[in-house]
Amino acid sequence: MMQRLVALILLAGLGFVAARHPVAAAETSPTNHFHITTGPLLQMPMETSLTVMWMTDRDSTGVVEYGPPGGELKTAFASQHGLIDANQRLHKVELRGLTPGTRYRYRVVAREISKFHPYRVTFGETITSEFQEFRTLDRGRREFSFLVYNDVHDQPAFIPDLLKVAGAAPYDFVVWNGDMVNHVENEGQITALLDQATAHFATTIPLIWGRGNHETRGRLARQLPQYLALPEGRYYYTFDHGPVHFIVLDTGEDKRDTQREYSGLVDFFPYRREQGEWLRRAVQTDAFRRAKFRVVICHMPFANRVAADPASYKEPDTFVGMAHAYEHFGPPLEQAGVDLMIAGHMHRATLVPPDAGRHSYPIIQGGGSRVGDRTIIRVNVSDTALEAVAIGSDGSPVQTCRVPAKQR
Ligand SMILES: [Fe+2]
Repeated sequence: MMQRLVALILLAGLGFVAARHPVAAAETSPTNHFHITTGPLLQMPMETSLTVMWMTDRDSTGVVEYGPPGGELKTAFASQHGLIDANQRLHKVELRGLTPGTRYRYRVVAREISKFHPYRVTFGETITSEFQEFRTLDRGRREFSFLVYNDVHDQPAFIPDLLKVAGAAPYDFVVWNGDMVNHVENEGQITALLDQATAHFATTIPLIWGRGNHETRGRLARQLPQYLALPEGRYYYTFDHGPVHFIVLDTGEDKRDTQREYSGLVDFFPYRREQGEWLRRAVQTDAFRRAKFRVVICHMPFANRVAADPASYKEPDTFVGMAHAYEHFGPPLEQAGVDLMIAGHMHRATLVPPDAGRHSYPIIQGGGSRVGDRTIIRVNVSDTALEAVAIGSDGSPVQTCRVPAKQR
């Protein structure tokens, strides 16, 4: 996706701004007026970029206006192959060239497209969302917190409950660590989750959605990236905030590629090999080597010897994906040195201590989707330590882990 920044006056010249009337999305009637159905919400925070995503009830085009609070606004839009995104309901605009650790305000201006004639497009209503604010990530930050939860399995109503037990203390981003759905069958499953994010944090605090094995299933699994902001279009990437270098990995499916229920349509063994090659390069970067803490976020806890043990599963083949992930991801991480792995998948909050020769770092695994098993992980980061707590439905800590800063 290409993004261009243009002066507001340019769009005004195209009639874009002139046609706008300031109707907040929340004020429009869903039945009569063009309106925003999902979002706007923030995804994939970085130090100098961030993505604003929204959906509308009718085909449209749109821009994001953003700038310092009280200051001049710039305009950003999404453009691919020379064509500005238009005539679609789903919109993602990446804001680039931002300053680390800086507050911005933003709003979305969405413009309905009534008719898309080859030589003349007829526009309908234009709506503007309310201003919201965000702050970019910053590796100069000394302290911050973030939240991680997983295995919600198509029960979006759990999200506010989980956030409530995480407490009122601020957090800078939220990670959904996989299996947020059972399988991706329809858009409504995705938007039901994103709507909860929007309602409870994601207008101001960015969301990172990591893929679990269940997000690889269902007829819409191949379209899921359209709804997500993925760096360079990949489910595996790195980012930095404060003293932490984060590595997000995609552990893929849990069984063999040849498993009958995959119908010969998955290719995770080559994918994990390729990802392992990328990981070997990623741990050689200055960002990784200079970071005080290195945190791996992945859905399946592949380094956990017990989790990768076939005896721990009812189905004999469900450990194969993890064993393969360990083969390709485990050695580079172990050689390079990692401080903490945050995982899910096992449906029981567990703290796995370092296991000599296999993983020298602790693994904290978030709980499952049933009442009593659910947890949300809060990680508090300071210059001196990482503190990760898996908090249960009743607000009490289920697992706690403290990792002091190492001399490297
Ligand atoms: Fe899973």
